[in-house]
Amino acid sequence: MAEFPMLTHRPEWTALADHRAQSQPRLRELFAADPGRAERYVVRVGDLHIDYSKQLITDETLALLQELAAATGVFALRDAMFRGERINLTERRAVLHTALRAPRDAVIEVDGENVVPKVHAVLDKMAGFAERIRSGEWTGQTGRRIRNVVNIGIGGSDLGPAMAYEALRPYTARELTFRFVSNVDGSDLHEAIRDLDPAETLFIVASKTFTTIETITNATSARSWLLKAFEGDEKAVAKHFVALSTNGEKVTEFGIDPDNMFEFWDWVGGRYSYDSAIGLSLMIAIGPDRFREMLDGFRIVDDHFRTAPAEANAPLLLGLLGIWYDNFHDAQTHAVLPYSHYLSKFTAYLQQLDMESNGKSVQRDGNPVEWQTGPVVWGTPGTNGQHAYYQLIHQGTRLIPADFIGFARPIGELSEELKAQHDLLMANFFAQTQALAFGKTAEEVRAEGVAEEQVAHRTFRGDHPTTTILATELTPSVLGQLIALYEHKVFVQGAVWNIDSFDQWGVELGKVLARRVEPALTEGADVPGLDPSTTALVAAYRTLKNA
Ligand code: F6P
Repeated sequence: MAEFPMLTHRPEWTALADHRAQSQPRLRELFAADPGRAERYVVRVGDLHIDYSKQLITDETLALLQELAAATGVFALRDAMFRGERINLTERRAVLHTALRAPRDAVIEVDGENVVPKVHAVLDKMAGFAERIRSGEWTGQTGRRIRNVVNIGIGGSDLGPAMAYEALRPYTARELTFRFVSNVDGSDLHEAIRDLDPAETLFIVASKTFTTIETITNATSARSWLLKAFEGDEKAVAKHFVALSTNGEKVTEFGIDPDNMFEFWDWVGGRYSYDSAIGLSLMIAIGPDRFREMLDGFRIVDDHFRTAPAEANAPLLLGLLGIWYDNFHDAQTHAVLPYSHYLSKFTAYLQQLDMESNGKSVQRDGNPVEWQTGPVVWGTPGTNGQHAYYQLIHQGTRLIPADFIGFARPIGELSEELKAQHDLLMANFFAQTQALAFGKTAEEVRAEGVAEEQVAHRTFRGDHPTTTILATELTPSVLGQLIALYEHKVFVQGAVWNIDSFDQWGVELGKVLARRVEPALTEGADVPGLDPSTTALVAAYRTLKNA
């Protein structure tokens, strides 16, 4: 890997810092000076209309950001990723989630082997299984059809399918029940299965490594629950358990028939995996055809990212805008605010995608970074957030860049009356970005006859940057497009910051410590070397527990 000069010493970086110091653009002025801005600052990819006119940028800002991207080799790294090179340096792995949605005739090689046929073989196997569950052909131990599907997984083995199931609910087989269990808190599994009939329940154990303690613990408890219902008849496991994993050995060790395993590979990162076998629950819910439509959506954005020129490349632009605020405006967070109730888990999904990828403080060569990396990503669907935390975005002291995602038409079989509510939802959507951008001046407040002592309180500074992402409606393809857009945005930022966006060593320490502390909680065992604070807390816990 070529040596990477210190980012902050690059002329492209200092040029941006100077530009930031010299120009403090106000959005009212920018639009007044350039009414064509609303048309020019739009990029279209697939079904997505992405408007970034309400960003605190000028043509010069964009040009300087593009120069930074060019200097840091974003496109070279992109091409290396698409080619299957081992760009995940610390795990020495290729990063090929894009191969999961490649067409059947594509050739993508890892170590000289074309992986595309394997991808499609698994997709076909998933499709066959999904159809058998959906049609009732696959039956449980007593011969009854499966009516409940419980996905047990955590992180990337949960957030993706759970988010996409919610997002695409109107397309799901409503006669089936889907639940997603992730937390090692026993209440999660309890609430998921307490009203289910084991004879009609399928457990999907989703774990890339098949060693994740939460998932294996929950899967073991689920198996006990099932076996209790079938008086310990182990044969029931084959009818009621399937696994999604890269680790055939561990799956077999757990007692799941390898025929009931749907494979994926170490070149698929956990947080990039829901369009792999990890999406089986989703495929059962929406059917193989809709799942493939979703993959097509991913592919539209992959192709765009790979081929669109820099100035019209949507993931590149979004990534660079994030860098503009993160590194040159000291923004600490980034809000993603979908105006669709079906996207209620979208931002939680993005939190792992973005924060596990770019929450890093060393460069690819192990040297510390001297610049901010990934922001805190947060948000909930509109309009709920408007009545909770938008106050801080509008009138607080922080700069919070935000993405607003909305649709021209609602989905689902809504009554005419409920359909009509969609315009009201979207009126809020447009009103918020308008208020955030242009605010309300003291003069405007006074002109409304507001008493002078209240003027300052009712003034809105404006100049809060937003990107508006619009599509006709939330289809499987559009969901795929949105996810791929953010995947590649995160990629761009990691490339500029020169970090490995594809490892996640930061989650390891807590896992190791939890294993060490557990015997102290359960048996009161001494934990050698435990710090005094945690020792005291453990003692307090045991006193409370045994009181
Ligand atoms: O939280 C860390 C992590 O390794 C994630 O990256 C991953 O998505 C999750 O755990 C689950 O891992 P697995 O699919 O191996 O159970």
